[in-house]
Amino acid sequence: MKVVFVASEGVPYSKTGGLADVVGALPKALAALGHKLEVILPRYRMTKPGPRVPHSQSLTLPLGSGFKFASVQDGGRANNVQADLVDCPEYFDREGLYQQKGDDYPDNAHRFAAFSMAALEFLKRDATPPDIIHCHDWQTALVPIYLRNLYQEDGYFRNTSVVFTIHNLGYQGLFPPHLLPQISLHAGLFTIDGLEYYGMVNLLKGGIIFSDFVTTVSRKYAEEIQTPEFGCGLEGVLHSRADRLQGIVNGVDYEPWDPATDKLIAANYTPANLTGKETCKKVLLEKMGVQSPVLRRPVMGIVSRFASQKGFDLIASIAEHLAALDLYVVALGTGEPAHEELFRTMAAKYPEKFLVRIAYDNTLAHQIEAGGDMFLMPSRYEPCGLNQIYSLKYGTVPIVRATGGLDDTIENFDGKSGTGFKFRDYTPHALLAAISAALEVYAVPKIWQRLMQNGMKKDFSWASSAQTYARIYQTLQDPRTRSSTEVRRSGDVPNRGGF
Ligand code: ADP
Ligand code: GLC
Repeated sequence: MKVVFVASEGVPYSKTGGLADVVGALPKALAALGHKLEVILPRYRMTKPGPRVPHSQSLTLPLGSGFKFASVQDGGRANNVQADLVDCPEYFDREGLYQQKGDDYPDNAHRFAAFSMAALEFLKRDATPPDIIHCHDWQTALVPIYLRNLYQEDGYFRNTSVVFTIHNLGYQGLFPPHLLPQISLHAGLFTIDGLEYYGMVNLLKGGIIFSDFVTTVSRKYAEEIQTPEFGCGLEGVLHSRADRLQGIVNGVDYEPWDPATDKLIAANYTPANLTGKETCKKVLLEKMGVQSPVLRRPVMGIVSRFASQKGFDLIASIAEHLAALDLYVVALGTGEPAHEELFRTMAAKYPEKFLVRIAYDNTLAHQIEAGGDMFLMPSRYEPCGLNQIYSLKYGTVPIVRATGGLDDTIENFDGKSGTGFKFRDYTPHALLAAISAALEVYAVPKIWQRLMQNGMKKDFSWASSAQTYARIYQTLQDPRTRSSTEVRRSGDVPNRGGF
């Protein structure tokens, strides 16, 4: 099958979070199954493209009452995946991907409308239409919205199906209703069965409605988002599509994330020989400014976007307790000012205990995974989470809240089996209890080593999840399945009942 990923970020070209890791790795795994893979991304300032050879003439994008112009550059071909970069400097040659100094760019809707339309127009230059277009999150929700509303008469895409993956329901792409004509959409779409959501245009909702199949990134999160607690107001729409909604756990790419081969860490190590891990711990603590590292003291790592999703209010409420415990907290992240401030304050108050870097630093992220003993992810919600999976591989024991992908990927340690420590209630008390349980086991090195080995032996490579995606693609190619998506293809806004 010819499968095209359209996404707003992907390694090695651009990254703010786990979406980029998935868009970098899943196409590789699908190509290894024998499919033809292409990834279309914006060309940001941070993107390091291949040779600057335009593929094609420029693209003309009729948006609103005017035109935008873009070109597409060859991003190179690696692991049988072709990368194409939409170049539109006015929109993408900027410092941040989505924000500047913590605020969303005011023209985000126009930026990703131009990108989505450019992707479709670029695809049309190829003699062979894609069998599948696989879109991700609100930034590319306009691809299915356009396909089923602007391009419904276009024979080129007649046999193309769209899969839409929700990586995070917390970001929906909400804009005022007067946006619709500016991005070439009919005001008739602004209904409760269309893009309307509490008086706003909701692009993610459009992605859910107009795609042929919707996935999210863990089994548990797929269930959670159909409830009021986690559905962010879209639980009804998601529930109405339950027969076309599936949770597929993310894999990870062990090429960059394996302590046996990782080039960014001080020493390599394997489950059979862990001596390198001790070196990593010492070097990490020195790098973070500790004069004489106490190596028997555990290191609790945090690498995260500093967003409320990640449970920083819980961490704030136990911060003084943490400072009183016999451990180092090594934290790396950037994001919401209040959370940055929390770590700055703790670092100033306890400079030997709270070792903090407010930054985005991939090398340090690897070094914290390698040099840590424990890894903390007390998320309020977590669609999948990748860091806890990297932690398992690095023998760094995850302490996580039992939600979404964290619950699916970590098993509570019972003294023999299990890979980490989980707590359920979103309370400081429950979090502290999980940390105390971890510290108790840490105090018995033989049992701790067993726990580390349990995690290191787990295999979360992409092969099996990639096969699940391929099966979904295949089903959508089946003419019988296709006929049941005709409502969406006709461009009529479907009823709430869905299929
Ligand atoms: P999310 O996508 O919600 O941020 P994930 O756990 O799925 O969470 O993925 C986060 C990814 O981003 C990981 O690869 C992690 O190492 C990386 N990351 C997050 N914050 C930073 C940072 N400050 N510096 C370097 N890498 C980071
Ligand atoms: C999102 C989620 C995270 C997930 C990542 C990749 O950013 O917050 O849980 O792992 O996407 O799917």
